Amino acid sequence: MRVVLAYSGGLDTSAILLLLREKGYEVITVTIDVGQEDDLAGVEERAYKLGAVKHYTINAVKEFAENYISKAVKANALYEDRYPLGTALARPLIAEKIAEIAKKEGAEAVAHGCTSKGNDQVRFDLVLKYRLGDDVKIIAPVRELGLTRTASAEILRRHGFEPPGAHKKYSVDENLWSRSIEGGVLDDPAAPPPEEVFAWTVPPEKAPNEPLVLSIGFEKGIPVSINNEKMGLEKLVRLLNRLVGLHGYGRIDHIENRIVGLKSREVYEAPAALTLIEAHKDLEKLVYTPRELRFKKLLDEQWSDLVYQGLWVEPLRLVVEKAIDELNKWVTGEVVVKVYKGSLSVIGRSSDYTSYSKSLIDYDKGWYPSAEEAEGFIKIWGRHSLAAVRSRGI
Ligand code: ARG
Repeated sequence: MRVVLAYSGGLDTSAILLLLREKGYEVITVTIDVGQEDDLAGVEERAYKLGAVKHYTINAVKEFAENYISKAVKANALYEDRYPLGTALARPLIAEKIAEIAKKEGAEAVAHGCTSKGNDQVRFDLVLKYRLGDDVKIIAPVRELGLTRTASAEILRRHGFEPPGAHKKYSVDENLWSRSIEGGVLDDPAAPPPEEVFAWTVPPEKAPNEPLVLSIGFEKGIPVSINNEKMGLEKLVRLLNRLVGLHGYGRIDHIENRIVGLKSREVYEAPAALTLIEAHKDLEKLVYTPRELRFKKLLDEQWSDLVYQGLWVEPLRLVVEKAIDELNKWVTGEVVVKVYKGSLSVIGRSSDYTSYSKSLIDYDKGWYPSAEEAEGFIKIWGRHSLAAVRSRGI
């Protein structure tokens, strides 16, 4: 019997590897590189030490950037207005890769380390079912046995292994787009996050006294350059994470509504994601008609909700993406941002595709509606409202 395990190299998935072997499975481990800064060679070594028969390390960073992050930028994707969806976006990609390996290896089952309290189980399972069929055997020992971190550590010790990361106080999930931190003292929503939870951003008060000013170029909604230097999205996101993080921008602390009926306190770091979304939104305002702008917000929210809620497979996502792509065809231009001690402001923007006209807006010269035109417009514009309010006597 063969099982393909989504293996992060952490405490829980290491214990799961041992549990699966105890059950008589040949375990094939798969680690997907989505830009997390883990020692992946070390993860592979651990998998073999714990008895995996085969291990795959799959570099999917470029694919993550080009097929997932690019969509998130175009959709200004922020779940409940705050969370840039790093974890939520990477899960479907990881599940796709697990399904591919399971097919290739002719595995009877797939396994993961998700808990029954989280969103990730939904994101994984639905893509696995989509690719491998409804009857796919999904083994999720944390969900099935209520495996705790202490129990996982015990299993490892019982087999004579030192539990990896047993001392860790937080549950961290990292990829190119964001770093998610949960658990420990953060479970008290009233407690401020201790400085030790952050790794990508400096505390704003310790950021340099000189602001960082950057020009970001977009083509059809996709970021393509920094300070006029063209680069691929993966490189651009890495660069921004570093540059902007050094100026203390990119921290998020909010209460989130999970799919599974729980509210959770979540802390994230996402310097590049927040910068790119702010810049992209600003450029959209320059480009879109007022109707497009208002409609786009609905599309963005719908897309973010579907992705967060594990519905990557929902056909509506593709429909919404088509509309988002259509609108983004015109989102080409430059946005200048200034990052200073943990805050970001857009200080300039330009595009060839805009109805903005300097000469029209100028109060001193240029086109003016005549008094007659303006008065006539106001009369007609307000007629509905004035007539209604009068008819109600309010
Ligand atoms: N709440 C976020 C989400 O559902 C992040 C989950 C992060 N997972 C973790 N193990 N820290 O997408």
